[in-house]
Amino acid sequence: MNLPQRYLITAALPYANGLKHIGHLAGAYLPADIYTRYLRAQKRDVVFVCGSDEHGTAIPIQATKEGTTAQAIIDKYHPIIKQNFAHLGISFDIYHRTSAAIHHETAQEFFTALNDNGHLITKETEQYYDEQAQSFLADRFIKGTCPNCAYDGAYGDQCENCGKSLSPDELINPVSTLSGNAPIKKLTTHWYLPLNKHEDFLRKWIIEEHGNDWRANVVGQCKSWIDGGLQPRAVTRDLDWGVKVPPSKVQGESSLTDGKVLYVWFDAPIGYISATKQWALDNGKDWKPYWESKDTKLVHFIGKDNIVFHCIIFPVMLQLHGNILPENVPANEFMNLEGDKMSTSRNWKLEMDDYINDFIKPENGGSQLADSLRYYLTLIAPETKDSEFTWKGFQDANNNELVSIFGNFINRALVLMHKLCKGKVPPLHTAVMDELDHEAIANIKSTKEKVEKLLEEYKFRDALFEVINLARIGNQYMQKKEPWIVAKRLSADDGLLTLDGSKNRVDQQLIDNCLHICLQLTANLAVLINPFLPFTAKKICYLLKVVDKVLDWENAGSMKLLSVGYSLRSPELLFRKIEDEEIAQQLAKLGEKVEAIKVKKDEPVMEQPTAKIVSVKPVIEFDDFAKIDLKVGTIVAAEKVAKADKLLKLQVDLGFETRTIVSGIAMHFEPSKIIGKQVTVVCNLAPRKMRGIESNGMILMAEDAAGKLHFMNPETAIDNGSGVS
Ligand code: MF3
Ligand code: ZN
Repeated sequence: MNLPQRYLITAALPYANGLKHIGHLAGAYLPADIYTRYLRAQKRDVVFVCGSDEHGTAIPIQATKEGTTAQAIIDKYHPIIKQNFAHLGISFDIYHRTSAAIHHETAQEFFTALNDNGHLITKETEQYYDEQAQSFLADRFIKGTCPNCAYDGAYGDQCENCGKSLSPDELINPVSTLSGNAPIKKLTTHWYLPLNKHEDFLRKWIIEEHGNDWRANVVGQCKSWIDGGLQPRAVTRDLDWGVKVPPSKVQGESSLTDGKVLYVWFDAPIGYISATKQWALDNGKDWKPYWESKDTKLVHFIGKDNIVFHCIIFPVMLQLHGNILPENVPANEFMNLEGDKMSTSRNWKLEMDDYINDFIKPENGGSQLADSLRYYLTLIAPETKDSEFTWKGFQDANNNELVSIFGNFINRALVLMHKLCKGKVPPLHTAVMDELDHEAIANIKSTKEKVEKLLEEYKFRDALFEVINLARIGNQYMQKKEPWIVAKRLSADDGLLTLDGSKNRVDQQLIDNCLHICLQLTANLAVLINPFLPFTAKKICYLLKVVDKVLDWENAGSMKLLSVGYSLRSPELLFRKIEDEEIAQQLAKLGEKVEAIKVKKDEPVMEQPTAKIVSVKPVIEFDDFAKIDLKVGTIVAAEKVAKADKLLKLQVDLGFETRTIVSGIAMHFEPSKIIGKQVTVVCNLAPRKMRGIESNGMILMAEDAAGKLHFMNPETAIDNGSGVS
């Protein structure tokens, strides 16, 4: 195999508009980190770049939400996200930011180079404009219904439900997110990248060259894009937040650049280049070969919603600019959480920050718990299809695999070595080796080869399985050799007079061989697990009293990692168990309002949420029940209550009158979506004032184990005012 001279690994630059969740971690950062650590262990020349994406409409929108400025938003989130990654062992060589001057310069130069060489076109078109806000409505400033999946919260640049990249014109029923009004159209001029001219190049490069080595989901998405016909794509925006469009040298165009910035998806991927430049400056290196030399292997790690940008748009830009193209773009599908899509707007997510606070802070378990999360997320990596994070699954993976298989094997090896071999690495007596010994050694060597091959193919889940399987093999080997039984026999024999002591000697040799192999296997596990669970690998090195250099990949498969006679530390547990209470707490936190949650011990792993509502109220008499007047009504109006996240003010038509009812369902439903829904109303509930609004009654909803609300409406519409009993 002809190995590339150098590697440049990128992971999608996260928007610095809020905390990132474990779906992001599993999608891009963790696999990128595993791959990079593997390459570093092979002593290859590799740079791993990432950083904050600080432009685009996502940032000012968050600023409005938090009542602050865009600058304050990026300055708040950039350092937290950076720290969070560090806590989870994501080992970027640089975590840069696109607000840096060097990035603005780099992006502007890139734009100018393409423009000066005639690769961009300008067009005057009508675009959506909010008259009240006096502003064009770029990207996320406009929302509407997705033409692809009918989701009604799609943005002007992308539908976050189905992942389709959109233009504002494609939205059905567009509304301005600035004022809530329907927008008008207004003329404006923009620069476009004529993707239509590059269809042949893309088809050849993606389908012909990489159709077989890229993931099927990636090739499939690209193919359908290209087959659908590519359009010129605007690379500038009317917006005051971002990289300014550089004043054009072309006569008459200069006034056109006023008030315009580069489209965030134009500048952000260039962030990979500016990050590399900054890294090179910091380390006295030359950045150019990483982006210009054919000897460089460029790999982009991303989630599936970023495919079009990394496989179609950015490559066209790179190609036109004279840069190298990515060798692979291993995009992951999505990770769901306890039966539902992770979502920031619905607050259905597990933030890295939360996990770190609850598990990694020293008092809660420290870095070994970072590895527990890395383990589970890799085990369920959404490499070929969407996957599902459940807390029970996390607990099982940690307790049944990391603790009981991996940690247990290493612990037993060290305990037995101290007990039966005087705390020193025993020698290997080849004369008394048997079939099992040879088999164990062969397994160490073959595991290395398998892991290596799988990692090169970006199959991280399978690669990790092989490493854990080696620990499983170690346990089975030890179980079959039973050195503790041999030791008993040995000590029983001690009291006997033997003429030459030969039996004793053989028994000790059998013990030595078993522990010698188990300890070399342990050292091998450290090397092999290192890309996945770096904190664990370090801890094993500490226990074996070896330097981190032992973790060099070339050492995998070796039976000489520990010298005979070398004394090792007393065992310490590598992982701690995750208790049922901790899982219950996390589930409760997730479904905030779920009152009583109990995770039953030894319950089989379930696909669906494991939370259970178990509270049953005390018995009541029929007469008590009969006091409640329940009637069917229809919601005829709904609006959010100012300064109350959870409340909606509803008008409910009960047939004989229309009532105002304030209901705590705002986190679950868009007001516009529930108009026309029939509900069961408690009509004779005493009026109550909430946020200054008098509520006359209550609507009944069902709440599932995950805390999600569901309507309990009649099967088919019936007259308002109908009684319910
Ligand atoms: N900020 C984008 C997101 O979170 C990703 C940008 S990737 C880059 O989806 F290539 F543009 F940097
Ligand atoms: Zn959609």
